[in-house]
Amino acid sequence: MLGGSRFVGRAVVECALARGATVDVVNRGLTGHQVGGATHLRADRTDPAELAAAVADRSWDAVIDTWSGAPVHATTAAQLLGPRTGHYGYVSSRSVYARPVAPGLDETAPVVAGDADDIGEADYARAKRGAELGVVAARPDALLARAGLIVGPWEDVGRLPWWLERIERGGRVLAPGPPQRPLQLIDARDLAAWMLDAAERRIGGAFNVVSRVGHTTIGELLETAIEVTGADAELVWFTHEEIAAAGLSPWTELPIWVPPDGPYAFLHDGDTEAAHRAGLRCRPIADTVHDTWAWLTTTSSEARLHDRPPLGLDPEREAEVLRGHGGGSAIRPPQGHVEG
Ligand SMILES: NC(=O)c1ccc[n+]([C@@H]2O[C@H](COP(=O)([O-])OP(=O)(O)OC[C@H]3O[C@@H](n4cnc5c(N)ncnc54)[C@H](OP(=O)(O)O)[C@@H]3O)[C@@H](O)[C@H]2O)c1
Repeated sequence: MLGGSRFVGRAVVECALARGATVDVVNRGLTGHQVGGATHLRADRTDPAELAAAVADRSWDAVIDTWSGAPVHATTAAQLLGPRTGHYGYVSSRSVYARPVAPGLDETAPVVAGDADDIGEADYARAKRGAELGVVAARPDALLARAGLIVGPWEDVGRLPWWLERIERGGRVLAPGPPQRPLQLIDARDLAAWMLDAAERRIGGAFNVVSRVGHTTIGELLETAIEVTGADAELVWFTHEEIAAAGLSPWTELPIWVPPDGPYAFLHDGDTEAAHRAGLRCRPIADTVHDTWAWLTTTSSEARLHDRPPLGLDPEREAEVLRGHGGGSAIRPPQGHVEG
């Protein structure tokens, strides 16, 4: 496991250990939490010599990489480790698809340009695509798991945690509607399990890896959050037109939610049949919400990672909009990169 101590990589390590695998984890030991039971090999992978020394002459049945920085470091790792493994899996993102992405598109949709040797990481989509190209150049049979919105325990982006903590505060909660708005997301543990299944079956190629459209709805998600937190919260539903009129940002101020049409609709409306035919199973949203709340309430704030840009709606702004004093007239684009 290249990485393995934050969120998705951590889920891969835990899942592999639970299956009885022997797991080597390569990272610097700086962020996140090292899962007990794995062998921790320390390296700053941006230094190829350091990476080579850390892995020495080891070989593996499968290598999985979660890198999302400069593509050259995914490429270098694939060149070094690719020949020593039976299977190579890379955690990519649906962000690699070129905008505008038409809702319902599958893996044949056009992708952004990328450079496998790029030493920069300014653009997330190009970085993920560059890494895909570098991995596939080294291992043409590699698995590219183009994940959609990832949730679950240890989520370090903070989308579902924000909603849970907001709802726990109680009172009237600005809820982006309609409640029936279908969502498409995946629990990191299901992503991990599918990638390990794919490793065992030597499945390669690019797959959109996220639930089917409508696996859950924003209404079910937020109602479940009220149930698991036991909060005295009232969901006050806003239409997407009202949210636009209030000038609120989908996705960032209102995590997880995007309006049902427009340039971001594809985030909850992609074709994932290929991954499902290849065995993808997504657990009920209630399990994800319950387990994420259990993690939040049993883990100290210090033990959680706080190094990502903050997201969610400012409480004063929420109160202002709830009072009906919102301004603005157009949906603002999400701030930062849109996915991942
Ligand atoms: N969140 C979403 O909704 C979403 C959606 C689509 C795709 N994705 C993708 O999902 C993946 C999430 O990955 P994750 O962060 O959760 O993976 P992770 O493997 O759990 O954590 C990242 C690892 O990289 C290590 N690392 C960072 N810099 C390093 C360096 N210079 N040398 C060696 N190791 C280094 C970190 O440890 P140290 O810092 O200790 O070295 C850490 O173990 C990403 O690929 C992202 O693009 C996310």
